[in-house]
Amino acid sequence: MEMNKIEKLEQDVPFKVDVYKGLTSSPKEISSKYFYDDEGSLIFQEITRMKEYYPTRLEMDVFTRNKSDIVKRIENDRIDVVELGAGDGHKTKVLLEEMSKQKKRTKFFPIDISEKAIRELLKNIQSGPGLEVLPVVGDFFHGLGKVVEESLNQKLVLFLGSNIGNFGPGERISFLKGLKDSLNPGDMILIGLDLKKDIQKLMDAYSDPHGVTERFNLNLLKRINRELGGNFKLNQFYHHAFYNPRKGAMESSLLSLKEQEVYIEEYGTSFHFDEFEPILLEHSYKFTLSEIQNMAHLSGLDLVENFFDSSKGYVNSLWKVKAESHLH
Ligand code: AVJ
Repeated sequence: MEMNKIEKLEQDVPFKVDVYKGLTSSPKEISSKYFYDDEGSLIFQEITRMKEYYPTRLEMDVFTRNKSDIVKRIENDRIDVVELGAGDGHKTKVLLEEMSKQKKRTKFFPIDISEKAIRELLKNIQSGPGLEVLPVVGDFFHGLGKVVEESLNQKLVLFLGSNIGNFGPGERISFLKGLKDSLNPGDMILIGLDLKKDIQKLMDAYSDPHGVTERFNLNLLKRINRELGGNFKLNQFYHHAFYNPRKGAMESSLLSLKEQEVYIEEYGTSFHFDEFEPILLEHSYKFTLSEIQNMAHLSGLDLVENFFDSSKGYVNSLWKVKAESHLH
């Protein structure tokens, strides 16, 4: 008998379409959301274990320092926790244990696009007295839609790891508005955001000397090879990351080492790369506290409290859906 039935949802099929769009646009660009196939999720786990990649560690510090206060902000003794992009769940475990300590009856709905990541999470977090784990494999929106159908209690949505940083300024507001619209008044969102900081620290985190981040980026080309019959030669591209202070974001690209053609079977055509031509793969935006306050406001959410790590380099911001928010 399977202990944890995993709900699997259909995905839209835009990978093929988006990659084509991205490789024919100028400059070339593919969304970082495609990093997270099973292999990409594993490499991301490796990233989070590197000392250079501080966000995971700082968020863990926020939770260990503030878990009691965070959970005290939840009024109800029944709570449905929904995590968007749950990964292996090792940070969330700290909060769930605190909920059990404060006698909450919790349903936990981890949503992740990678089934392998969900299986990893289920090794760390299991149903027990007061906790029911209901995993969903799927993208954020299908996953959330599914959970909203099943959940009757007050919800706490976790959007951790500064995942919001991958969205551009307009995108993040429409994402948050969409999220808010699928919730009820009184529901809460705990969102993890990396704060603007010393640029060298950022560079070290996104351009690590071990080559793990490069492997993470190159995996997207590998995925195109695997799923779309591409013939990207991985050693003919290299990873470049820099901080763009005007955007307030780290920008990561893969650059072609030489002029070359790359054939992709699914499209029956080749794509031309100039020497040093980039494919932009990721923005990782960094925030100030006033930008965060403003983001909550523009999304129509109330900022309840900010929780910090000891270095104040990272914040988990707790937001609440307003009572009148059903009036658009
Ligand atoms: C998981 C999206 C938060 O942007 O910091 C790590 C992904 N990219 N190293 C980030 C990532 C390069 C990460 N997020």
